[in-house]
Amino acid sequence: MSRQTEGSDTRKQAGSSGPRIALGVTGGIAAYKSAEIVRGLTRSGAEVHVMMSAGGQKFITPLTLQTLSGQDVITDQWDLARGPDIQHIALARGLDLFLVAPATADVLAKLAHGIADDFLSTFYLAVTAPVAVAPAMNVWMWEHPATQANIALLKSRGVRIIEPGVGELACGEEGVGRMAEPETIVETALAMAKKKLRGRLRAAASS
Ligand SMILES: Cc1cc2nc3c(=O)[nH]c(=O)nc-3n(C[C@H](O)[C@H](O)[C@H](O)COP(=O)(O)O)c2cc1C
Repeated sequence: MSRQTEGSDTRKQAGSSGPRIALGVTGGIAAYKSAEIVRGLTRSGAEVHVMMSAGGQKFITPLTLQTLSGQDVITDQWDLARGPDIQHIALARGLDLFLVAPATADVLAKLAHGIADDFLSTFYLAVTAPVAVAPAMNVWMWEHPATQANIALLKSRGVRIIEPGVGELACGEEGVGRMAEPETIVETALAMAKKKLRGRLRAAASS
């Protein structure tokens, strides 16, 4: 089975008609905006599965995102209470998009280098669907050569970078690093996920 064609069976089993999106939330102040992203995606008919890094949980509660998404939020890679499935593999199948918003400098580094030390970063390696990240950080963190090299590496592997904007940052400084607006992120994510879903449905119909 190729990385491009797997997953249609799982979608049929899930019985949903909208795109299936996994949203990773990491530890930046912009994490509070992930609530708006979840609402925007679910209002458009997407099925949204949130996973949070330990850092992300410091900024917004899993309860908020669970309530808005209507799905369990994954916070711990070692929690097998919901069944014997290896969760990062089970969820990765039949996915139309993996979106990380906000994406910290830390998670960008992990994804770029294949470090899999929590659920979110392990999940990334198991995902075969398109991936998009919305970086959010202080301007100096964003402009640091390490971050820029990680961004270049991710881009070269096909990860869509939803570019941060210029503005006043939460730290009080001005510059690039402010997460793209939630509406822009939702729009980009839906376009990518719907394209993937259409391709999957076409492949299923012709098989
Ligand atoms: C108040 C506060 C705000 C932070 N904001 C950001 C941020 O916007 N972007 C970022 O990359 N890191 C930020 N950090 C640092 C990250 O939380 C830290 O690097 C953490 O290890 C990220 O973990 P994660 O990527 O697993 O969520 C912030 C830290 C604190 C204490």
